[in-house]
Amino acid sequence: MDSPSVVVVTGAAGDIGMAIAGRFADRNARIVLCDRLADALRQRVASHPRRDQLEWHEVELTDPAQVKSFIAGAIKRHGRVDVLVNNAAKQHDGDVATASEADFEEAFAIHMRAPFLLSKAVVPGMKAAGGGAIVNISTVHAQAVGPGRLAYAATKAGLLGMTRSMAVDLGRHNIRVNAVIPTAIRTSGLLKAWTEDRDPEKKGVSRLYDHAAKQHPMRRIGEADEVAELVEFLATCRFVTGEEIRVDGGILAALRLLPID
Ligand SMILES: NC(=O)c1ccc[n+]([C@@H]2O[C@H](COP(=O)([O-])OP(=O)(O)OC[C@H]3O[C@@H](n4cnc5c(N)ncnc54)[C@H](O)[C@@H]3O)[C@@H](O)[C@H]2O)c1
Repeated sequence: MDSPSVVVVTGAAGDIGMAIAGRFADRNARIVLCDRLADALRQRVASHPRRDQLEWHEVELTDPAQVKSFIAGAIKRHGRVDVLVNNAAKQHDGDVATASEADFEEAFAIHMRAPFLLSKAVVPGMKAAGGGAIVNISTVHAQAVGPGRLAYAATKAGLLGMTRSMAVDLGRHNIRVNAVIPTAIRTSGLLKAWTEDRDPEKKGVSRLYDHAAKQHPMRRIGEADEVAELVEFLATCRFVTGEEIRVDGGILAALRLLPID
């Protein structure tokens, strides 16, 4: 696809979603954004230099009826969706003993059911138009997991399975489906999570950033636009499908040897 004209991005009130929106807006696309945080999204759109190309919608992605009417509205207004980016997410804490059933269901609804329903809704139009692209945002936790990330890791890994399955089924229609696998990315969402959960002694988030940076062969964490760069590539390259590409500064390539007991 040379230049997509209509791009849908979920979870766009966050930094990565907005960076993705900006990349496609720079290509003169019409960008349809949604989030459950309507005020935050509205404000971000209002202050965006390309706000004329962006539209925002309040959508609760755990509610299938809202998901369906959001995407039906986008198709009705614009006639098509060329690119769908499934970016919305929520990190639930907990291991198998402590994760609640409700958290697991919410993680499933956000990371798997909503991408499934959104894809289901855009695919007929993509087929009719002769092609399209879906990009799913996963996480390194889908491939190598930190402690207490059960629901997030499991459902984001499920999203990778869905990516491969749809790529195989839709390839003949020139619809490509790929996934992006980010490591820690410097975002307000990460900052909030680290401030609330990972810094109980209040020693400062910059200490956590430094610690995380040292885990990466590139000695830093990522930036939102570096994720968006890969999303744009996967949405517009023409013969790549079923791929899952890490944007992780090399962290998952590194073998961590445990000390000898
Ligand atoms: N920031 C990181 O370090 C990092 C690392 C790995 C992967 N990722 C992935 O990148 C993507 C974006 O991350 P981010 O840091 O911008 O996250 P974020 O939390 O800042 O943004 C995610 C957005 O999704 C929205 N959302 C969550 N549940 C929703 C629901 N039920 N309905 C509607 N909207 C909902 C949230 O309101 C939020 O605005 C996510 O898929 C995340 O898993 C991020």
